[in-house]
Amino acid sequence: MKAVSDLRADIGEILLTESQIQARVAELGAQVSIDYGGRSLTLVSVLKGSLPFMADLMRSIDRPLRIDLMEVSSYGGATTESSGLVRILKDLSSSIEGEDVLIVEDIIDTGLTLNYLVRYLRGKKPASLRICTLLDKPARRLVEIDVDYIGFTIPDQFVVGYGLDYGELYRNLRFVGVLRPEVYSSAG
Ligand code: IMP
Ligand code: MG
Repeated sequence: MKAVSDLRADIGEILLTESQIQARVAELGAQVSIDYGGRSLTLVSVLKGSLPFMADLMRSIDRPLRIDLMEVSSYGGATTESSGLVRILKDLSSSIEGEDVLIVEDIIDTGLTLNYLVRYLRGKKPASLRICTLLDKPARRLVEIDVDYIGFTIPDQFVVGYGLDYGELYRNLRFVGVLRPEVYSSAG
């Protein structure tokens, strides 16, 4: 079993430090608070990767809000690639009909997961549907997606930490860093 200090050794460059993330999340929360004016909103987080982001973002939004959680996974394929076939592991617990919904995501890579999710949630007739992602990796986009709030735009590198995983590990790191390629190439 690996300790967090061992996980740290698997990281090459640190892309975003804890304080950079905290400062940007506070800005995003302030912007969301302004944009939604007097309206209340529902944050829909996409587990598990967006868990720390959701927890920090919701506390920086100065509006009445509700939260709901979904969990999705892509079918099969290598764990650093998205297959685009999305399976819902956990659905919403309440109706979002007529609600102002903000999807909270960890990262948009190919866009296939979010593309599926947006179509699924639109079918539930929210009053509005916007997207907030901590990270955007536009280099690999396969479908066009209108993203309303972006924390950071990052280069085409596989990153972990602050919720993001490789093989379900590294989510508990406080920063976002680039996983050393040896870690996933040696995994077979
Ligand atoms: P997409 O469908 O290709 O946009 O992939 C979105 C999902 O793939 C994210 O929610 C992550 O779970 C995962 N993902 C994409 N890029 C990375 C990365 O660099 N690190 C960790 N997970 C990633
Ligand atoms: Mg995810």
